[in-house]
Amino acid sequence: MTLDFSKPLYFLAPLAGLTDLPFRSVVKKFGVDVTVSEMISSNALAYGSIKTKKMLEKSSLETPYSIQIAGSNEDIIKRAVDIINARDDVDIIDLNCGCPVPKVVNNLQGSALLTDLKKMGKAIETIKKYSNKRYTSVKIRLGFAEKNHIEIAKVCQESGADFIAVHGRTRSGKFKTPVDYDAIAEIKNTLKIPVIANGDIDSKDKAKWVLKHTNCDGIMIGRAAVGAPWIFKQIKDDIDKVTPNLIKDVVIEHFEQMLNFYGDYGVILFRKHLHTYSKHGYKGASEFRDKINRESDPKIAKEIIEDFFKNNKLS
Ligand SMILES: Cc1cc2nc3c(=O)[nH]c(=O)nc-3n(C[C@H](O)[C@H](O)[C@H](O)COP(=O)(O)O)c2cc1C
Repeated sequence: MTLDFSKPLYFLAPLAGLTDLPFRSVVKKFGVDVTVSEMISSNALAYGSIKTKKMLEKSSLETPYSIQIAGSNEDIIKRAVDIINARDDVDIIDLNCGCPVPKVVNNLQGSALLTDLKKMGKAIETIKKYSNKRYTSVKIRLGFAEKNHIEIAKVCQESGADFIAVHGRTRSGKFKTPVDYDAIAEIKNTLKIPVIANGDIDSKDKAKWVLKHTNCDGIMIGRAAVGAPWIFKQIKDDIDKVTPNLIKDVVIEHFEQMLNFYGDYGVILFRKHLHTYSKHGYKGASEFRDKINRESDPKIAKEIIEDFFKNNKLS
């Protein structure tokens, strides 16, 4: 499998707790090119956690598929890579250099690697050296407290990354400060390897604008795909609105995928997705959410969901 960077590539961003196998397989049907696992701790992988191993699984639709790991200890990273190497259904191993969460940062992982570029470089080199996958990639932010994006991006390239994805904020910017698309463009201008732009891309017009403004090789969308996995089709096929019927079918399919993957517990895990799916201007959405929050039986939950999305009109 090779990635064709001759035209823009569309990535689903990794979102811990959201972009699991059921969600990714739903998004895949709307034309996203590359899907990425949720962030997987290299420690948990190396020490053989069963829950973590389940996170490696992909749907048969997901090719090319990227597994994102977090880590900084070279030995642990090597052991995590060995485990991923045993799966022949993975095309990319991605290193997380963006996660701002204190639990991750305090272990010198995620965005903390941006404060120690030597360590970051070694982590990338370790993946590149031991991985048997076609691609090694890195997902970065623009810096930790301050921007030093060019320096960071160059270390990624020099350490053997085949491409990078850039969330256009620093770690201090968390998920709210304005995304600096000029800085993403500067990175694209400097590097020889492909660069994927990420951050606050939430419509087809914004997607077009970001591609033009940054000249990047693709875009990565996260939060805007939650509750609206069809955004990739809207962008690719230039569609303004989707029909209530399509939304209903997507919600039911997603729900069924959750049950297949998680068993009955999928009903509870699906609540957060229903909250976003029901935000498209439906009447009675808050009553629906109250009702579904109290239901854990799959059959009854399905009836409630079908009834809400079938008999509802978008306001
Ligand atoms: C709930 C949540 C979970 C996230 N989990 C991850 C993750 O596991 N790995 C990662 O690299 N980034 C993670 N991110 C960051 C996103 O991948 C992305 O860079 C960021 O949300 C900006 O893109 P967006 O505006 O399209 O969502 C997460 C973000 C959110 C909001």
